[in-house]
Amino acid sequence: MKTIPEYGRPYDEVLKALDEYGMDDPDYKDKKTWSLVYYKDAEYTHFLAEAYEKYMSANGLNPTAFKSLKRFENDIVAFTAELLHAGEQAAGCVTSCGTESCMLAVKTYRDWARKEKGIKKPEMIVCETAHVAWFKGAEYFGVKIHTVPVDKDWKIDINAVKRKINKNTIMLLGAAPEYPHGIIDDICALGELGIKHNIPVHVDACVGGYLLPFMVQAGADLPPFDFLVPGVTSMSADIHKYGFASKGCSCILYKNLDLFKYQCFVHPNWPGGLFASPAFLGTRPGGAYAAAWAAIQANGRQGYIEMAKQTMANADRIREGIRSFEELEIIGDPKCSLVAYRSKDPYNVNIFAVGDIMQEKGWHIDRLIHPDGLHAMITCSHDDAIDRYFADLREAVDAVKGKPELALKGEAATYSTVGHIPLLGMVRSSVLNVFSQSYEISKGLIDISDSTQVTGGGMLDKITNKLVMADLKKPGSVKKLVNGAKAAGVIGASAAAVGTAFAIAKKKIKK
Ligand SMILES: Cc1ncc(COP(=O)(O)O)c(C=O)c1O
Repeated sequence: MKTIPEYGRPYDEVLKALDEYGMDDPDYKDKKTWSLVYYKDAEYTHFLAEAYEKYMSANGLNPTAFKSLKRFENDIVAFTAELLHAGEQAAGCVTSCGTESCMLAVKTYRDWARKEKGIKKPEMIVCETAHVAWFKGAEYFGVKIHTVPVDKDWKIDINAVKRKINKNTIMLLGAAPEYPHGIIDDICALGELGIKHNIPVHVDACVGGYLLPFMVQAGADLPPFDFLVPGVTSMSADIHKYGFASKGCSCILYKNLDLFKYQCFVHPNWPGGLFASPAFLGTRPGGAYAAAWAAIQANGRQGYIEMAKQTMANADRIREGIRSFEELEIIGDPKCSLVAYRSKDPYNVNIFAVGDIMQEKGWHIDRLIHPDGLHAMITCSHDDAIDRYFADLREAVDAVKGKPELALKGEAATYSTVGHIPLLGMVRSSVLNVFSQSYEISKGLIDISDSTQVTGGGMLDKITNKLVMADLKKPGSVKKLVNGAKAAGVIGASAAAVGTAFAIAKKKIKK
């Protein structure tokens, strides 16, 4: 086990060690990373670091102490409100990330509904493509979550939402856009439902909040997605994404102060002093707010519009490039900067195996499930990487063509398992088991993308592999088999259950 060094080490030695730790990290400076990072260039990064450093020790916990931080926060919130047309009555605050913003909205609407409507068993309705933050929020705050499917355009299925609305519904959710496929939901339809049933509507613009408005200002034709839509009561927008701030800055906005008040926490008789807080964090990082403020000032409206134009041009090139592959297709019709694509024939070209080869070539690309796919979160910085990307993608597709067994190797195996085995409870407990172990101090680094660790290895792996191959051949077949067996009472969520399904699947494969 590593321990704290007995005596402090020289700064330069420690800084060198920091670089060494990062040697296997995704290569984002070379633009080979297509998620997680919004990187401009070294000069801009240095500028943000300087801004961060100036307020690194300042703490926004007490807004009356560091007035500078409250000023940064006020400016960031006001600028975001203006961008999203939140109006004069709006109220909001800065948070640490998109997840915090989303989870806060769940808490706010749970408490609002309890007080204003007497709802004791809160429920919320989201699309299956909603960011995981919403599922996390529902779990943390004890709100039952209804997940509705996408419609034929990959937007939230409004009819399904209508069917799920009931007297316990505390909020509806739309995304602008959703992360997996970059699709903007029908916010107008959600707003109408919200007004009709007096249910708040949140628009998750965590990823799009600092891009879509500038795309519109640059002339893009996008459907309405912000507070201009009647019925929208709150929005989240991350400055640390397309706002190109340093990590640690998002913003949540409500239509009015009455709603925002439900987000706030007040404890008036704490021996440590009167306490009031707008969000989850106690200590609030001054550096992150200063850097976000600095990013907004340094880019300015015109800077962001130029970045949006470049992002749109890059996204167009990515979409054209994918369309030029006869083996691949784009999922849905994404209008902004997130693009998902899949294999037209998953048995012939396994898209996860393509992802593995791209990874070997140094690209960092997210995998998607339901349906299986690869993902690109495109920024203005990706322009000089696009030709290299497609040259490698061509090689990767050619290398996996006609080799379905590659679905069972490398990271492809993990994603194939998660995407094709309907016994989610089992997958969940395996993932939880491995994932939690990676936090056990004595274990050190565990590769949680190693399929043998995720599925438990051995016999179960073999069974799972057969099921995956069967499902790749005929998508949905395993789900039907397992559900059928479940309905017939033959099978539960256990290893024995997989065995039963395996036996059925084996018969099917032989046919
Ligand atoms: C639509 C959406 N909501 C919420 C989040 C969560 O943001 P964060 O990773 O900053 O917590 C993301 C992240 O990509 C997102 O795309």
